[in-house]
Amino acid sequence: MTFYDKILSSLKEKLGIDNLALEIPREKSFGDFATNIAMQLAKTEHKSPRDIANTLLPKIQEIDFIESADVAGAGFINIKIKNDFIINSLRTDSSIPKHSGIKIDFDYGAYNIAKDMHIGHLRTSIVGDTLYRVTKFLGNTPISYNHLGDWGRPMAMIIAWIVRTFPNDWNKSDFQVNASDLNTFYPAASAYAHEHPEFLEQVQNIKKEFQKGDNDYYKLYEKFSEISMAQMHSVVSRLNIVPFDNDLGERNAAKYLEPVEKILRDKKLLIKSEGAEIVELKRDDDAAPMPPFMFLDSRGADTYDSTDLAALYYRKITDNPDKIIYLTDARQKLHFEQLFRVAEMSGIFPSENLEHQYFGAITGSDGKPFKTRDGNVATLTDIIDAVENAARERAPNLPIETIKMIAMASLKFNDLMHDTKSDYVFDPNMVVQFDGRTGAYILYTVVRLNSALKKSDNRNFCSISNISNDYERDLMIKILDFPRMIETMFEKRAPDILANYTYDLCQLANTFYHNCEIKNDANRIAITQNAVKTLSTCIDLMGMQIPKEM
Ligand code: ARG
Repeated sequence: MTFYDKILSSLKEKLGIDNLALEIPREKSFGDFATNIAMQLAKTEHKSPRDIANTLLPKIQEIDFIESADVAGAGFINIKIKNDFIINSLRTDSSIPKHSGIKIDFDYGAYNIAKDMHIGHLRTSIVGDTLYRVTKFLGNTPISYNHLGDWGRPMAMIIAWIVRTFPNDWNKSDFQVNASDLNTFYPAASAYAHEHPEFLEQVQNIKKEFQKGDNDYYKLYEKFSEISMAQMHSVVSRLNIVPFDNDLGERNAAKYLEPVEKILRDKKLLIKSEGAEIVELKRDDDAAPMPPFMFLDSRGADTYDSTDLAALYYRKITDNPDKIIYLTDARQKLHFEQLFRVAEMSGIFPSENLEHQYFGAITGSDGKPFKTRDGNVATLTDIIDAVENAARERAPNLPIETIKMIAMASLKFNDLMHDTKSDYVFDPNMVVQFDGRTGAYILYTVVRLNSALKKSDNRNFCSISNISNDYERDLMIKILDFPRMIETMFEKRAPDILANYTYDLCQLANTFYHNCEIKNDANRIAITQNAVKTLSTCIDLMGMQIPKEM
């Protein structure tokens, strides 16, 4: 059992109250833990919360690891834990919560072939990666899917554009697509189609042909897909994201449209409407409008809706996961609500085990979606470059590998520390500050603790034997709070809990470092070792890397 669980369960048992909750007061003078149980009970027992609290105190004080308990304010009970119990817990429970091993399919990243990765892909990549790492860390089985946009009209547009631009060469076997031009084709084709609607007819024909596979269009598609995948993998590696278990998107899903269509037909869910085939989703109790699910559009073509349903079906028959979690920006909320309803109605997947974790937008300082200086939508490469340059300006003498680590830690930490649902302002110069709530500060703290350990007398893992002041004590309690924190972070899918815990831990570690000489003190070496261990775990779970020096 963890430190927190031991305290909570002892209190519950002693008081015979099962719904007791403990919080950790921000203000240290309010004790190590506090509970509002007396206020809770006051509602049903019609007594004053303070009176109830006072009757509970003697029982609480009987618990052997409790140093003191008192009543504060309107009836809060503040509890202080004995030092011995803190020391023993640090020595004995390295315990992280061990889950029974549920299988979760994660859908994040979701890049598109032959289109630049842009700022809209940043949060899904970073948050997705952290949730993936934490899921695994807790003993579950995560499986990641990069649901690629690699099928349908956008691909046909690109093929049609290449055919138009290189009419004599595009189908020759030695024809090569220029990697640096590749991502300009789609915007160019869209702009052209705008002026020349007849181009879209050509796109339509190419789409039909290319989707049959095994022809020149398909061979061309394979060529540029390969280049695009290589670009994608290079960004994923610069971001230090765990490589995806599956780069499988719409193209793979399209193979499963047939069985899915059969299921929908057998359940009589498909309705013809203006040439399209739709599923009606409206329910009597819907407060907001609920448009139908578009299975086939009016041209009889598959859609973003249908390939997503087919992808879900594929995951069901391949992984049979307990849950599927999708991470995209908030603009896709309706799409996933529709998808989950159809999944439920068709019996393909119970909607209670489907989750859409959506994100707020990343804006520039003007509050508008973040753009580069020239006014274009920033590509992920632009953003990574900007943060690396800012880090280099700040620390010109550090080795380039270290600068890259600082830059990525800063970019990621800045993303993770914000509540996922809210918007935030992005400024490359702000994120690489060495002070304040930044990734650079987190790395700096652990590098400094590591170097203190290197300089100290004892390099073996020491064990803590006493507490001589509150700097040590506060840091130790924070370390012991890690299991509770990581559990809550996972339950709430809230990476900001992990990021902000890491920041608080760093602050306590730095205060400890400033006030307590470590060098020849075995006990303090042990505290530092414990802090480094927990801090390193947090850093790793956020996909950040620790440099040797800073
Ligand atoms: N590729 C899409 C985009 O760039 C996101 C896909 C999200 N995942 C999904 N299963 N629909 O917007």
